[in-house]
Amino acid sequence: MTSQTLLLIKPNAIEHRHVGHIITILEESGFHILKVKDLQFTAQGAGEFYAMHQGKDFFDRLVKFMISGPNIALLLEKENAVEELRKLVGSAIPQEREPGTIRHLYAEGIAENAVHASDTDENARREIKLIFGSDTSPELV
Ligand code: CMP
Repeated sequence: MTSQTLLLIKPNAIEHRHVGHIITILEESGFHILKVKDLQFTAQGAGEFYAMHQGKDFFDRLVKFMISGPNIALLLEKENAVEELRKLVGSAIPQEREPGTIRHLYAEGIAENAVHASDTDENARREIKLIFGSDTSPELV
């Protein structure tokens, strides 16, 4: 069944001009881009987005990185979108980043990993609502 998920292109990927190639990879892999938004997170906003990681030892480093520059959010649609995007993005663990994945191409560190992808359908709904609001009808914002 067609479903939706969220991808964030993180500050390091934007700084190093990988946005166009990341979007090409997504489109060539069959994702439809329903919405695009550029964001400058506040510390509070990044903390809310990553609420599930609050209290972990890397939380402050993650928030600091996410507010260090703009992010681009993409609302994506495909069959089995969450799982398909996770495969395309690759592992969070640097040693396990499979060749051909976005993180294998562009991640520079454990926090500076180029992109974020929602990890479950429930988190995708939460993150889409947080970034785009409740209306997910196809339009560019
Ligand atoms: P992301 O997919 O955005 O979801 C949570 C983020 O936390 C993850 O990618 C990394 O950017 C970051 N992260 C996870 N583990 C660590 C860690 N040990 N140190 C720093 N950042 C981390």
